[in-house]
Amino acid sequence: MNSSINKNFIKDYDNQYFLHPWEDCSNNNSDYKIIKNSNGIYLFDESGKKYIDGPGGMWCVNLGYGRKEIAQEIAKQCEKLPYFSPWFSTAEPSALLAKKLASLTPKDLNTVFFTTCGSTALDSAVRFVHYYFNCINKNDKKTIIAREKGYHGSTLLSASISGKERDKRVLDTIDNGIKFLSNVNPNLKGDITEEEWCNQKVAELENTILEIGPDKVAAFVAEPILASGGVIIPPKGYHKKTHNICKKYDVLYISDEVVTAFGRLGHWFSSEDVFDFIPDIITCAKGLTSGYIPMGAMIISDSLINNIKKNSNNYDLLFSNGFTYSGHPIASAAALKTIEIMEKEKILDHVRDITPYFQSRLKKLGEKYECISDARGIGLLGCLEGYSNPLLDDKKRLEIDHQFGTMIDKAAEKRGLLVRPIINMCVFSPPLIITKTEIDLMFNILDDAVSEVEKNLK
Ligand SMILES: Cc1ncc(COP(=O)(O)O)c(C=O)c1O
Repeated sequence: MNSSINKNFIKDYDNQYFLHPWEDCSNNNSDYKIIKNSNGIYLFDESGKKYIDGPGGMWCVNLGYGRKEIAQEIAKQCEKLPYFSPWFSTAEPSALLAKKLASLTPKDLNTVFFTTCGSTALDSAVRFVHYYFNCINKNDKKTIIAREKGYHGSTLLSASISGKERDKRVLDTIDNGIKFLSNVNPNLKGDITEEEWCNQKVAELENTILEIGPDKVAAFVAEPILASGGVIIPPKGYHKKTHNICKKYDVLYISDEVVTAFGRLGHWFSSEDVFDFIPDIITCAKGLTSGYIPMGAMIISDSLINNIKKNSNNYDLLFSNGFTYSGHPIASAAALKTIEIMEKEKILDHVRDITPYFQSRLKKLGEKYECISDARGIGLLGCLEGYSNPLLDDKKRLEIDHQFGTMIDKAAEKRGLLVRPIINMCVFSPPLIITKTEIDLMFNILDDAVSEVEKNLK
Protein backbone atom coordinates (compact mmCIF):
# COMPACT_ATOMS: atom_id res chain seq x y z
CA MET A 1 0.00 0.00 0.00
CA ASN A 2 1.54 3.32 -0.94
CA SER A 3 1.80 5.88 1.82
CA SER A 4 -0.64 8.45 0.37
CA ILE A 5 -3.41 5.81 0.14
CA ASN A 6 -2.54 4.74 3.65
CA LYS A 7 -2.77 8.34 4.84
CA ASN A 8 -6.22 8.81 3.29
CA PHE A 9 -7.49 5.65 4.93
CA ILE A 10 -6.23 6.70 8.32
CA LYS A 11 -7.83 10.18 8.09
CA ASP A 12 -11.01 8.59 6.86
CA TYR A 13 -11.13 5.97 9.63
CA ASP A 14 -10.23 8.62 12.16
CA ASN A 15 -13.14 10.81 11.10
CA GLN A 16 -15.62 7.99 10.86
CA TYR A 17 -14.74 5.93 13.92
CA PHE A 18 -12.51 7.75 16.38
CA LEU A 19 -14.24 10.30 18.60
CA HIS A 20 -11.42 12.33 20.14
CA PRO A 21 -11.55 14.18 23.48
CA TRP A 22 -13.13 17.63 23.10
CA GLU A 23 -14.22 16.83 19.52
CA ASP A 24 -17.29 18.44 17.99
CA CYS A 25 -19.66 15.56 17.16
CA SER A 26 -21.47 17.68 14.59
CA ASN A 27 -18.32 17.91 12.50
CA ASN A 28 -17.26 14.68 10.86
CA ASN A 29 -14.43 16.28 8.98
CA SER A 30 -11.61 16.98 11.43
CA ASP A 31 -8.07 17.15 10.18
CA TYR A 32 -5.96 15.60 12.90
CA LYS A 33 -2.29 15.31 12.18
CA ILE A 34 -1.11 11.72 11.88
CA ILE A 35 1.91 11.28 14.11
CA LYS A 36 4.14 8.49 12.93
CA ASN A 37 7.30 8.71 14.94
CA SER A 38 9.05 10.39 17.82
CA ASN A 39 12.42 11.02 19.40
CA GLY A 40 13.56 13.20 22.30
CA ILE A 41 11.41 16.36 22.28
CA TYR A 42 10.38 15.81 18.64
CA LEU A 43 7.41 14.32 16.84
CA PHE A 44 7.33 13.41 13.14
CA ASP A 45 4.19 13.42 11.02
CA GLU A 46 3.36 11.08 8.14
CA SER A 47 5.29 13.22 5.67
CA GLY A 48 8.37 13.13 7.89
CA LYS A 49 7.96 16.76 9.01
CA LYS A 50 9.58 17.34 12.40
CA TYR A 51 7.87 19.23 15.24
CA ILE A 52 9.00 20.26 18.70
CA ASP A 53 6.37 18.84 21.03
CA GLY A 54 5.59 22.04 22.93
CA PRO A 55 2.89 20.54 25.20
CA GLY A 56 5.03 17.43 25.93
CA GLY A 57 2.17 15.19 24.78
CA MET A 58 -0.48 16.47 27.16
CA TRP A 59 1.81 17.75 29.95
CA CYS A 60 3.02 14.20 30.37
CA VAL A 61 5.97 13.02 28.23
CA ASN A 62 8.43 14.39 30.76
CA LEU A 63 11.35 12.19 29.78
CA GLY A 64 10.80 12.70 26.06
CA TYR A 65 10.24 10.10 23.37
CA GLY A 66 12.23 7.02 22.40
CA ARG A 67 13.23 5.86 25.87
CA LYS A 68 14.31 2.30 25.15
CA GLU A 69 14.79 1.46 28.84
CA ILE A 70 11.10 2.14 29.54
CA ALA A 71 10.03 0.16 26.46
CA GLN A 72 12.19 -2.78 27.54
CA GLU A 73 10.90 -2.68 31.09
CA ILE A 74 7.32 -2.69 29.81
CA ALA A 75 8.07 -5.65 27.51
CA LYS A 76 9.86 -7.56 30.28
CA GLN A 77 7.00 -7.11 32.75
CA CYS A 78 4.46 -7.96 30.06
CA GLU A 79 6.12 -11.34 29.48
CA LYS A 80 6.61 -12.03 33.18
CA LEU A 81 3.26 -10.96 34.62
CA PRO A 82 0.94 -8.77 32.56
CA TYR A 83 -1.80 -8.61 35.19
CA PHE A 84 -2.66 -9.54 38.76
CA SER A 85 -5.93 -8.98 40.58
CA PRO A 86 -5.37 -6.24 43.16
CA TRP A 87 -8.44 -7.53 45.03
CA PHE A 88 -6.67 -10.57 46.43
CA SER A 89 -3.03 -10.44 45.40
CA THR A 90 -0.13 -8.10 44.89
CA ALA A 91 2.93 -7.95 42.66
CA GLU A 92 6.50 -6.87 43.05
CA PRO A 93 6.58 -3.72 40.86
CA SER A 94 3.34 -2.37 42.35
CA ALA A 95 4.45 -2.76 45.97
CA LEU A 96 7.90 -1.38 45.12
CA LEU A 97 6.31 1.62 43.40
CA ALA A 98 3.99 2.35 46.33
CA LYS A 99 7.00 2.30 48.68
CA LYS A 100 9.00 4.53 46.31
CA LEU A 101 6.17 7.07 45.97
CA ALA A 102 5.75 7.19 49.74
CA SER A 103 9.43 8.13 49.97
CA LEU A 104 9.05 10.96 47.43
CA THR A 105 5.87 12.58 48.78
CA PRO A 106 5.88 15.08 51.65
CA LYS A 107 6.25 13.72 55.17
CA ASP A 108 3.38 11.46 56.17
CA LEU A 109 1.68 10.92 52.81
CA ASN A 110 2.45 7.24 52.72
CA THR A 111 -0.60 5.32 51.55
CA VAL A 112 -0.90 4.99 47.80
CA PHE A 113 -4.11 4.14 45.97
CA PHE A 114 -3.37 3.44 42.30
CA THR A 115 -5.74 4.54 39.57
CA THR A 116 -5.81 4.44 35.79
CA CYS A 117 -5.28 8.17 35.08
CA GLY A 118 -5.63 11.64 36.58
CA SER A 119 -9.43 11.79 36.38
CA THR A 120 -9.82 8.54 38.30
CA ALA A 121 -7.26 9.76 40.85
CA LEU A 122 -9.41 12.84 41.53
CA ASP A 123 -12.57 10.78 41.49
CA SER A 124 -11.01 8.41 44.02
CA ALA A 125 -9.76 11.29 46.19
CA VAL A 126 -13.26 12.75 46.50
CA ARG A 127 -14.70 9.31 47.21
CA PHE A 128 -11.99 8.70 49.80
CA VAL A 129 -12.82 11.99 51.53
CA HIS A 130 -16.48 10.97 51.77
CA TYR A 131 -15.46 7.53 52.99
CA TYR A 132 -13.12 9.05 55.58
CA PHE A 133 -15.75 11.28 57.17
CA ASN A 134 -18.29 8.44 57.14
CA CYS A 135 -15.74 6.22 58.91
CA ILE A 136 -15.10 8.78 61.65
CA ASN A 137 -18.82 9.47 62.11
CA LYS A 138 -18.85 12.94 60.60
CA ASN A 139 -21.38 11.86 58.00
CA ASP A 140 -22.56 15.37 57.18
CA LYS A 141 -19.18 16.48 55.93
CA LYS A 142 -19.73 16.05 52.21
CA THR A 143 -19.35 19.36 50.34
CA ILE A 144 -16.31 19.81 48.12
CA ILE A 145 -15.02 23.32 47.53
CA ALA A 146 -13.35 23.79 44.15
CA ARG A 147 -12.30 26.73 42.01
CA GLU A 148 -13.21 28.50 38.81
CA LYS A 149 -10.71 27.62 36.05
CA GLY A 150 -9.64 24.44 37.86
CA TYR A 151 -9.47 21.28 35.78
CA HIS A 152 -9.55 17.92 37.49
CA GLY A 153 -10.64 15.46 34.82
CA SER A 154 -13.36 14.01 32.66
CA THR A 155 -15.22 11.43 34.73
CA LEU A 156 -18.57 12.77 35.92
CA LEU A 157 -17.24 13.47 39.40
CA SER A 158 -13.86 14.94 38.39
CA ALA A 159 -15.56 17.05 35.70
CA SER A 160 -18.08 18.25 38.29
CA ILE A 161 -15.31 19.64 40.52
CA SER A 162 -13.70 21.28 37.48
CA GLY A 163 -14.50 24.94 37.04
CA LYS A 164 -14.04 25.73 33.38
CA GLU A 165 -17.49 27.08 32.62
CA ARG A 166 -17.16 26.83 28.87
CA ASP A 167 -16.61 23.06 29.16
CA LYS A 168 -20.02 22.76 30.79
CA ARG A 169 -22.06 24.46 28.10
CA VAL A 170 -23.25 21.27 26.42
CA LEU A 171 -22.16 18.61 28.89
CA ASP A 172 -23.89 18.12 32.25
CA THR A 173 -22.13 17.87 35.58
CA ILE A 174 -23.30 17.44 39.17
CA ASP A 175 -23.94 20.65 41.13
CA ASN A 176 -25.11 19.15 44.37
CA GLY A 177 -22.46 19.18 47.10
CA ILE A 178 -19.92 21.15 45.08
CA LYS A 179 -19.21 24.83 45.59
CA PHE A 180 -16.91 26.99 43.46
CA LEU A 181 -14.66 29.86 44.47
CA SER A 182 -13.86 32.69 42.07
CA ASN A 183 -10.86 32.89 39.74
CA VAL A 184 -7.57 33.43 41.62
CA ASN A 185 -5.69 34.86 38.63
CA PRO A 186 -3.71 37.89 39.96
CA ASN A 187 -4.19 39.60 36.57
CA LEU A 188 -7.77 40.27 37.62
CA LYS A 189 -6.83 42.08 40.82
CA GLY A 190 -7.32 45.60 39.44
CA ASP A 191 -5.86 48.34 41.64
CA ILE A 192 -5.24 46.34 44.81
CA THR A 193 -1.90 44.75 45.74
CA GLU A 194 -1.15 41.07 45.19
CA GLU A 195 -1.21 40.54 48.95
CA GLU A 196 -4.66 42.11 49.22
CA TRP A 197 -5.85 39.98 46.32
CA CYS A 198 -4.47 36.90 48.06
CA ASN A 199 -6.21 37.81 51.32
CA GLN A 200 -9.50 38.34 49.48
CA LYS A 201 -9.30 34.88 47.94
CA VAL A 202 -8.37 33.28 51.24
CA ALA A 203 -11.25 35.13 52.95
CA GLU A 204 -13.58 33.85 50.23
CA LEU A 205 -12.60 30.28 51.13
CA GLU A 206 -13.14 30.91 54.84
CA ASN A 207 -16.47 32.67 54.28
CA THR A 208 -17.66 29.87 52.03
CA ILE A 209 -16.80 27.27 54.67
CA LEU A 210 -18.65 29.32 57.30
CA GLU A 211 -21.66 29.86 55.02
CA ILE A 212 -22.04 26.16 54.28
CA GLY A 213 -21.08 25.22 57.83
CA PRO A 214 -17.72 23.62 58.72
CA ASP A 215 -19.58 20.47 59.80
CA LYS A 216 -20.77 20.07 56.21
CA VAL A 217 -17.59 20.84 54.28
CA ALA A 218 -15.39 17.86 53.49
CA ALA A 219 -12.55 19.11 51.32
CA PHE A 220 -10.96 21.84 49.27
CA VAL A 221 -9.51 20.66 45.98
CA ALA A 222 -6.90 22.74 44.18
CA GLU A 223 -4.17 22.45 41.57
CA PRO A 224 -1.04 24.27 42.82
CA ILE A 225 -0.96 25.85 39.35
CA LEU A 226 -4.22 25.87 37.40
CA ALA A 227 -2.78 24.25 34.32
CA SER A 228 -5.54 23.72 31.73
CA GLY A 229 -7.23 26.87 33.04
CA GLY A 230 -4.30 28.73 31.44
CA VAL A 231 -1.27 28.20 33.69
CA ILE A 232 -2.75 30.44 36.38
CA ILE A 233 -0.32 31.04 39.22
CA PRO A 234 -2.17 31.96 42.42
CA PRO A 235 -0.84 34.95 44.39
CA LYS A 236 2.18 34.46 46.61
CA GLY A 237 1.30 32.87 49.95
CA TYR A 238 -2.11 31.65 48.73
CA HIS A 239 -1.42 27.94 49.14
CA LYS A 240 -0.15 28.14 52.69
CA LYS A 241 -2.94 30.47 53.79
CA THR A 242 -5.73 28.38 52.24
CA HIS A 243 -4.16 25.31 53.80
CA ASN A 244 -4.26 27.00 57.24
CA ILE A 245 -7.95 27.81 56.74
CA CYS A 246 -8.64 24.19 55.87
CA LYS A 247 -6.83 23.01 59.00
CA LYS A 248 -8.78 25.49 61.13
CA TYR A 249 -12.13 24.00 60.06
CA ASP A 250 -11.17 20.34 59.69
CA VAL A 251 -11.53 20.56 55.93
CA LEU A 252 -9.23 18.21 54.01
CA TYR A 253 -6.89 19.64 51.38
CA ILE A 254 -6.60 17.69 48.12
CA SER A 255 -3.64 18.95 46.13
CA ASP A 256 -4.07 17.97 42.49
CA GLU A 257 -0.51 17.50 41.28
CA VAL A 258 -1.40 15.67 38.07
CA VAL A 259 0.58 18.30 36.15
CA THR A 260 2.93 19.74 38.77
CA ALA A 261 4.42 16.48 40.09
CA PHE A 262 7.39 14.58 38.65
CA GLY A 263 9.62 17.45 37.82
CA ARG A 264 7.50 20.02 36.01
CA LEU A 265 8.44 22.62 38.66
CA GLY A 266 11.82 21.04 39.42
CA HIS A 267 10.63 18.82 42.31
CA TRP A 268 9.01 15.43 42.71
CA PHE A 269 5.96 17.16 44.17
CA SER A 270 5.42 20.90 44.40
CA SER A 271 3.01 21.28 47.36
CA GLU A 272 5.69 21.26 50.03
CA ASP A 273 8.87 21.95 48.06
CA VAL A 274 7.59 24.92 46.06
CA PHE A 275 4.55 26.16 47.99
CA ASP A 276 5.41 25.21 51.55
CA PHE A 277 2.33 23.28 52.65
CA ILE A 278 1.56 19.63 53.22
CA PRO A 279 -1.85 18.57 51.94
CA ASP A 280 -3.90 15.64 53.26
CA ILE A 281 -4.12 14.00 49.85
CA ILE A 282 -2.06 14.36 46.68
CA THR A 283 -3.21 13.19 43.27
CA CYS A 284 -0.80 12.52 40.42
CA ALA A 285 -0.65 10.84 36.99
CA LYS A 286 0.91 11.92 33.66
CA GLY A 287 4.65 12.31 34.47
CA LEU A 288 4.41 9.29 36.80
CA THR A 289 5.01 7.07 33.77
CA SER A 290 6.20 9.89 31.51
CA GLY A 291 3.04 9.24 29.47
CA TYR A 292 4.36 5.87 28.22
CA ILE A 293 1.42 4.01 29.72
CA PRO A 294 -1.68 5.19 31.63
CA MET A 295 -1.48 5.35 35.41
CA GLY A 296 -2.52 7.67 38.24
CA ALA A 297 -2.33 7.65 42.01
CA MET A 298 -4.01 9.17 45.03
CA ILE A 299 -1.72 9.38 48.03
CA ILE A 300 -3.16 9.69 51.53
CA SER A 301 -1.62 10.99 54.75
CA ASP A 302 -1.02 8.69 57.71
CA SER A 303 -3.12 10.89 59.94
CA LEU A 304 -6.27 10.11 57.93
CA ILE A 305 -5.50 6.39 57.86
CA ASN A 306 -4.77 6.41 61.61
CA ASN A 307 -8.04 8.22 62.36
CA ILE A 308 -9.94 5.60 60.41
CA LYS A 309 -8.14 2.87 62.36
CA LYS A 310 -9.02 4.54 65.68
CA ASN A 311 -12.67 4.72 64.75
CA SER A 312 -12.99 1.23 63.42
CA ASN A 313 -15.57 -0.64 65.50
CA ASN A 314 -14.52 -4.06 64.43
CA TYR A 315 -16.65 -4.04 61.35
CA ASP A 316 -15.33 -3.83 57.83
CA LEU A 317 -14.68 -0.32 56.62
CA LEU A 318 -14.24 -1.25 52.99
CA PHE A 319 -13.07 1.49 50.68
CA SER A 320 -15.35 0.07 48.02
CA ASN A 321 -13.78 1.96 45.18
CA GLY A 322 -11.33 0.33 42.85
CA PHE A 323 -10.32 -0.40 39.36
CA THR A 324 -9.56 -3.68 37.66
CA TYR A 325 -6.22 -2.10 36.80
CA SER A 326 -5.31 -0.55 40.18
CA GLY A 327 -1.56 -0.99 40.58
CA HIS A 328 -1.23 -2.57 37.14
CA PRO A 329 2.16 -4.33 37.08
CA ILE A 330 3.19 -3.10 33.62
CA ALA A 331 2.32 0.51 34.45
CA SER A 332 4.07 0.12 37.82
CA ALA A 333 7.21 -1.21 36.12
CA ALA A 334 7.12 1.74 33.68
CA ALA A 335 6.71 4.20 36.58
CA LEU A 336 9.60 2.68 38.54
CA LYS A 337 11.81 2.92 35.46
CA THR A 338 10.69 6.53 34.86
CA ILE A 339 11.65 7.49 38.41
CA GLU A 340 14.95 5.60 38.13
CA ILE A 341 15.86 7.50 34.94
CA MET A 342 14.86 10.81 36.52
CA GLU A 343 17.20 10.08 39.41
CA LYS A 344 20.04 8.78 37.25
CA GLU A 345 19.90 11.74 34.83
CA LYS A 346 19.29 14.31 37.59
CA ILE A 347 16.25 15.63 35.75
CA LEU A 348 15.03 17.71 38.71
CA ASP A 349 18.37 19.55 38.86
CA HIS A 350 18.22 20.10 35.12
CA VAL A 351 14.72 21.62 35.33
CA ARG A 352 15.77 23.92 38.15
CA ASP A 353 18.87 24.99 36.18
CA ILE A 354 17.08 25.64 32.91
CA THR A 355 13.88 27.24 34.27
CA PRO A 356 15.19 30.83 34.59
CA TYR A 357 16.25 30.79 30.94
CA PHE A 358 12.93 29.31 29.78
CA GLN A 359 10.98 31.88 31.79
CA SER A 360 13.12 34.81 30.65
CA ARG A 361 12.54 33.93 26.98
CA LEU A 362 8.82 33.64 27.66
CA LYS A 363 8.67 37.00 29.41
CA LYS A 364 10.58 38.76 26.60
CA LEU A 365 8.11 37.42 24.07
CA GLY A 366 5.22 38.82 26.09
CA GLU A 367 6.88 42.23 26.25
CA LYS A 368 7.57 42.33 22.52
CA TYR A 369 4.07 41.96 21.08
CA GLU A 370 0.96 44.09 21.51
CA CYS A 371 -1.39 41.19 20.77
CA ILE A 372 -0.10 39.33 23.85
CA SER A 373 -1.73 40.51 27.07
CA ASP A 374 0.23 38.21 29.34
CA ALA A 375 3.13 35.78 29.16
CA ARG A 376 3.28 33.80 32.37
CA GLY A 377 4.78 30.62 33.63
CA ILE A 378 6.62 28.72 36.31
CA GLY A 379 9.07 25.84 36.01
CA LEU A 380 8.79 24.39 32.53
CA LEU A 381 5.19 25.55 32.17
CA GLY A 382 4.29 28.54 30.04
CA CYS A 383 1.29 30.37 28.64
CA LEU A 384 0.85 33.16 26.13
CA GLU A 385 -2.49 34.89 26.47
CA GLY A 386 -3.95 37.11 23.74
CA TYR A 387 -6.04 40.20 24.37
CA SER A 388 -9.69 39.43 24.90
CA ASN A 389 -12.16 42.29 24.52
CA PRO A 390 -14.38 42.40 27.63
CA LEU A 391 -16.84 44.72 25.85
CA LEU A 392 -17.92 42.01 23.41
CA ASP A 393 -20.79 39.67 24.29
CA ASP A 394 -19.72 36.18 25.38
CA LYS A 395 -20.50 34.45 22.07
CA LYS A 396 -18.66 36.97 19.91
CA ARG A 397 -15.73 37.11 22.34
CA LEU A 398 -15.43 33.31 22.34
CA GLU A 399 -15.36 33.30 18.54
CA ILE A 400 -12.62 35.94 18.34
CA ASP A 401 -10.66 34.41 21.21
CA HIS A 402 -10.73 31.01 19.49
CA GLN A 403 -9.45 32.62 16.30
CA PHE A 404 -6.45 34.01 18.15
CA GLY A 405 -5.48 30.65 19.71
CA THR A 406 -5.95 28.91 16.37
CA MET A 407 -3.84 31.49 14.51
CA ILE A 408 -0.90 31.08 16.90
CA ASP A 409 -1.28 27.32 16.73
CA LYS A 410 -1.25 27.27 12.91
CA ALA A 411 1.62 29.77 12.59
CA ALA A 412 3.75 27.78 15.06
CA GLU A 413 2.89 24.44 13.51
CA LYS A 414 3.88 25.66 10.05
CA ARG A 415 7.31 26.42 11.49
CA GLY A 416 7.70 23.09 13.28
CA LEU A 417 6.38 23.71 16.79
CA LEU A 418 3.26 22.25 18.35
CA VAL A 419 1.55 24.32 21.05
CA ARG A 420 -1.72 23.72 22.79
CA PRO A 421 -4.32 26.38 21.99
CA ILE A 422 -6.86 26.99 24.77
CA ILE A 423 -9.30 29.61 23.49
CA ASN A 424 -7.22 32.86 23.43
CA MET A 425 -4.17 31.24 25.02
CA CYS A 426 -1.55 28.80 24.02
CA VAL A 427 0.21 26.76 26.64
CA PHE A 428 3.35 24.69 26.57
CA SER A 429 5.05 22.21 28.84
CA PRO A 430 7.86 20.63 26.84
CA PRO A 431 9.60 17.42 27.83
CA LEU A 432 11.81 18.16 30.83
CA ILE A 433 14.92 17.03 28.96
CA ILE A 434 14.75 20.12 26.74
CA THR A 435 18.16 21.80 26.36
CA LYS A 436 19.01 25.52 26.24
CA THR A 437 19.54 25.28 22.46
CA GLU A 438 16.14 23.64 22.04
CA ILE A 439 14.52 26.31 24.24
CA ASP A 440 15.98 28.90 21.87
CA LEU A 441 14.65 26.97 18.89
CA MET A 442 11.21 26.79 20.46
CA PHE A 443 11.00 30.47 21.39
CA ASN A 444 12.49 31.61 18.05
CA ILE A 445 9.67 29.77 16.30
CA LEU A 446 7.09 31.23 18.69
CA ASP A 447 8.52 34.69 18.13
CA ASP A 448 8.14 34.33 14.35
CA ALA A 449 4.67 32.86 14.75
CA VAL A 450 3.41 35.66 17.04
CA SER A 451 4.94 38.24 14.71
CA GLU A 452 2.95 36.79 11.80
CA VAL A 453 -0.26 36.72 13.83
CA GLU A 454 0.22 40.29 15.02
CA LYS A 455 0.68 41.49 11.41
CA ASN A 456 -2.46 39.64 10.31
CA LEU A 457 -4.49 41.13 13.14
CA LYS A 458 -3.67 44.69 12.05
C1 LIG B 1 -4.59 19.05 37.02
C2 LIG B 1 -5.23 17.90 36.31
N1 LIG B 1 -5.93 17.00 37.01
C3 LIG B 1 -6.50 15.94 36.43
C4 LIG B 1 -6.41 15.74 35.07
C5 LIG B 1 -7.05 14.55 34.43
O1 LIG B 1 -6.07 13.64 34.07
P1 LIG B 1 -6.36 12.52 32.96
O2 LIG B 1 -6.54 13.21 31.66
O3 LIG B 1 -5.13 11.65 33.03
O4 LIG B 1 -7.57 11.78 33.37
C6 LIG B 1 -5.69 16.65 34.29
C7 LIG B 1 -5.56 16.47 32.84
O5 LIG B 1 -5.07 17.30 32.11
C8 LIG B 1 -5.10 17.78 34.92
O6 LIG B 1 -4.42 18.70 34.22
